[in-house]
Amino acid sequence: MSLLDKIDKNRLPAHIAIIMDGNGRWAKARGLERGEGHKEGVSVIKKVVESASKASVQYLTLYAFSTENWNRPSEEVKGLMDLMVYAISKETADLKKNGVRIRSIGDMHRLPEYTRTALEECIRETAGGTGLTLVLALSYSSKWELTTASRKIAADVAKGVLRVEDIDEETLANYLTTRGLPDPDLLIRTGGEQRISNFLLWQCVYAELYFTDTFWPDFGEETLYEAILEYQRRERRYGKTSEQIDSAQ
Ligand code: FPP
Repeated sequence: MSLLDKIDKNRLPAHIAIIMDGNGRWAKARGLERGEGHKEGVSVIKKVVESASKASVQYLTLYAFSTENWNRPSEEVKGLMDLMVYAISKETADLKKNGVRIRSIGDMHRLPEYTRTALEECIRETAGGTGLTLVLALSYSSKWELTTASRKIAADVAKGVLRVEDIDEETLANYLTTRGLPDPDLLIRTGGEQRISNFLLWQCVYAELYFTDTFWPDFGEETLYEAILEYQRRERRYGKTSEQIDSAQ
């Protein structure tokens, strides 16, 4: 019996978010340049997108480049931007064929024009996809997102299109870059660190957290399904008691 068969299709996480960590350490352990780890990381993205689709996951969000990643050595940043353009352009036709729809979250204005253009092209080309939505978090951080949302809300209040007393949780959610996406049910971090690193703080308030020591280049179908199975063993109470959850079922 494969791990996929063990997954309860009625209790799937609709949205999985992943902090892909460990590319550099994976490369170092093999005496390779960090860039080789990122290249291997891209092949894993392809595998994980296929595996998530196969399991009927609806949304997959990948933390591909954080606001803080701009502080990495400029050659590494350039290498990552080039790799993204290469991967996005190479995979667009396949993504489209498989019904995968691409979306991005983050500060797209900071991306070099050639990266933004490739991404926008891929988003346009795959817009009709009805399968998995693959959300790429690029130049993203929660603090950036919440600051930007606050500014936009303040501007709309100043313009008179929004009243202070009407601002509620839904209003704020609608000003975030994740507008329209359901909150992640499961947040996976590879690479052994146990922190959130400025990723989807608002959206992950009730996500189940799953940390694994596996470096991202060693992640894949089985490790993804193990995380889903662990998610299905958890009880999601949303502040309620176990008894309340049981009686509602
Ligand atoms: C974390 O490993 C990984 C990243 C910061 C980059 C991940 C990006 C990719 C794999 C390319 C994405 C491509 C597309 C098409 C979205 P790390 O470098 O922090 O590893 P370390 O912690 O071992 O140093």
